Amino acid sequence: MTTLQTSPRTTAAWPGIIEAFRSHLPVTDATPIVTLREGNTPLIPLPRVSAAIGRQVEVWVKFDGLNPTGSFKDRGMTLAISKAKEAGAEAVICASTGNTSAAAAAYARRGGLRAYVLIPDGYVALGKLAQALLYGAEVLAIQGNFDRALDMVRQVASRYPVTLVNSLNPYRLEGQKTAAFEVVQALGDAPDWLCIPVGNAGNISAYWMGFCEYHQQDRCQRLPRMMGFQAAGSAPLVLGQPVEAPETVATAIRIGRPVNWERALAVQHASQGAFTGVTDAEILDAYRFLAAEEGIFCEPASATSVAGLLKLKDQVPTGARVVCVLTGNGLKDPDAALQHNTAQQRPAVPPDPAQVAKAIGF
Ligand code: F0G
Repeated sequence: MTTLQTSPRTTAAWPGIIEAFRSHLPVTDATPIVTLREGNTPLIPLPRVSAAIGRQVEVWVKFDGLNPTGSFKDRGMTLAISKAKEAGAEAVICASTGNTSAAAAAYARRGGLRAYVLIPDGYVALGKLAQALLYGAEVLAIQGNFDRALDMVRQVASRYPVTLVNSLNPYRLEGQKTAAFEVVQALGDAPDWLCIPVGNAGNISAYWMGFCEYHQQDRCQRLPRMMGFQAAGSAPLVLGQPVEAPETVATAIRIGRPVNWERALAVQHASQGAFTGVTDAEILDAYRFLAAEEGIFCEPASATSVAGLLKLKDQVPTGARVVCVLTGNGLKDPDAALQHNTAQQRPAVPPDPAQVAKAIGF
């Protein structure tokens, strides 16, 4: 009798984006790599969203909420912190609507640096605040919105020995462009449309850099139209002017003066893309649809990309392949999930099978 030898399927451990894409990134052997093995996030098909659009449109999400701190920021932060450490920095600072602060805190502490984060008082989702605190950042809430917080940290970083790790730091975008590389590797080419939420407009610029780099090296044959989506109450790039008091349920992108404004316009122009606003109601519809119909729990700001695609569904070419970027994990914002679901909150029942069965309608 022969014995079937079965061994567990193993794959080589993913090394994180710097090692995986080393030749595309500004690192040398002297760069100390601070990594949490970020990147390599799944590209997941959305059959129900595809069906809602029809016309053989193929829709995927790049779920970057599955990074180590739960958002795409990890891709940029591994490089920004590694380069800060290489330059001898002992502390980093950022302004944040939440995700940047969580990533900055995690990577800075892992690299042995101090992290200072400024957040808009009262407008950071609970999970993100909890992360920054537990990762050991010095968290300072300021009486003002994200744009004011960013003004503050720019001034502080220009005068004191602390490295700015917002997306003005060029290493952030270099790291984030690796998401575009992964999309191309997974699909074998770039998609026709790339739908992405836009706040400070760093990520849309980073993706475009990544696609262009791969295109120049013949690793993809086409370039996508870059479709940027902003929350309607916080849509400076749609309106063509800054928004002084931005408001939206998608607190991650509650930004009225994007620092990467010029870059974002250049991306729109070069890719024949567009900026479009989506209302909070549309964002929340997509947020619930993704969870309840596709099994994907992202944060409200991330659902903006899918809300935008659904809004523009009649403009999507027949047979097109579309990738929507889901930038952050749903667990980041438990308050939003509890407030905006349609499930009935039932009173607690006694631990009795008959009563449980009755309560669920049998
Ligand atoms: N989605 C999420 C979940 C975000 O946290 C952000 C930005 C964006 C989208 C927009 O990306 O700024 O590159 O256009 N969050 C920043 C922060 C502002 O502080 O965490 P962007």
